[in-house]
Amino acid sequence: MDKIIINGGKPLNGEVRISGAKNAALPILAASFLTEGTSTYTNVPKLQDIHSIKLLLSHLGARIETDADRIQIDTRNARGHEAPYDLVRKMRASVLVLGPMLARLKKAKVSLPGGCAIGARPIDLHLKGLEQLGARISLEHGDVEAETDGLKGGEINFDLVTVTGTENLMMAACLAEGTTVLNNAAREPEVVALAETLNRMGANILGAGTAVITIEGVSSLNPVTMEIIPDRIEAGTLMVAAALTHGDVLITHCEPEHLGAVIDKLKVAGADITIGDHTIRVKGPDTIQSADIQTMPYPGFPTDMQAQYMVLMCVADGSSLINETIFEKRLIHVSELLRMGADITISGQTALVRGISSLSGAPVMASDLRASASLILAGLVATGETVVNRVYHLDRGYDALDKKLAGLGADIRREK
Ligand code: UD1
Repeated sequence: MDKIIINGGKPLNGEVRISGAKNAALPILAASFLTEGTSTYTNVPKLQDIHSIKLLLSHLGARIETDADRIQIDTRNARGHEAPYDLVRKMRASVLVLGPMLARLKKAKVSLPGGCAIGARPIDLHLKGLEQLGARISLEHGDVEAETDGLKGGEINFDLVTVTGTENLMMAACLAEGTTVLNNAAREPEVVALAETLNRMGANILGAGTAVITIEGVSSLNPVTMEIIPDRIEAGTLMVAAALTHGDVLITHCEPEHLGAVIDKLKVAGADITIGDHTIRVKGPDTIQSADIQTMPYPGFPTDMQAQYMVLMCVADGSSLINETIFEKRLIHVSELLRMGADITISGQTALVRGISSLSGAPVMASDLRASASLILAGLVATGETVVNRVYHLDRGYDALDKKLAGLGADIRREK
């Protein structure tokens, strides 16, 4: 298993290019299943999670060709309706094939994803919504079995904001008869990117990016060519890295509009930020100021940036409160940061972070995707050597983060 070794203390300088967004690519690749023919996607990031969805779509009968950041998916003979446990357990987002399979084939069997490191993560709202569109759903031997005589539009009120839930329902509703209204829908840029893709396929979706999405069902959808939007979490992670190391980094091929909450907090922390046309330049302050955050659905501060921001606060001047409101177990990186000398106290879903002058390098264990990124950031500013183990979590969702950081001057290497 790979590990990453970092010798801290080097400021990051230079230019870095952002890859395509994992969380946009996953639902968009799954949406291909709604069409019959060959769709082409560019700017697809090279990630383990993308490999997982490709395996799943191939298992369902799609033919997939990959050439660098370009993927072609031919769904003409994709008739499979079963997503088995072995594929789903590797990636929870596999559940995104449920809506498309049900809409196109009128039946689907998807292994129920279990809990994961950051919490229980049920999919009850996906299932309740599909039932409201006319699916009959049962749970048998750990599988969700769904069938329908034909989906019919309906009004769905989400109890809480769910990103993949909104996406699953939006995809299913595209081929349902009549109008579907999704109330309390997720407003994430990845939801908007999916809606744009579906509309280009011939769907009729209005309101994506707002809390109310209206979908007028159509009888069929066509293949498309689309470019995947930039990954706002990768960009945010590199912005924190620049601020943390008192560096000066130009982040290119990104979408500053998707990063409002992160940009605002980094400004409060003292970073000098210049927004350009698809670029963000971050100059780190001499002294990092502390500022509280609370994670929220978009456009609030993303839970996927909480662990990285916490590292910044570990070496800030003063104390800050970090309140995680989305996932119940998403403060697990704290125990590893404590091993590096951080001063953090947890009470419920809130961490009190007292800034210290420097972290100290140590062997640490990555527990989930964003936690692994935070430990690498911590290693960049720690004295001495940090060894981050279980790097496969990082490879699920970051396209060559270690190489990108090395390109900016970090002393970082990967060992088998
Ligand atoms: C997506 C993102 C993930 C991000 C998260 C929150 C993808 C592939 N993943 O995950 O990176 O951290 O949004 O921004 O896009 N919930 C329920 N019942 C449901 C669905 C969700 O109780 O049926 C709860 C979850 O347990 C969680 C909250 O709702 O507490 C939000 O989860 P959700 O937005 O669904 O996260 P994902 O879509 O899984």
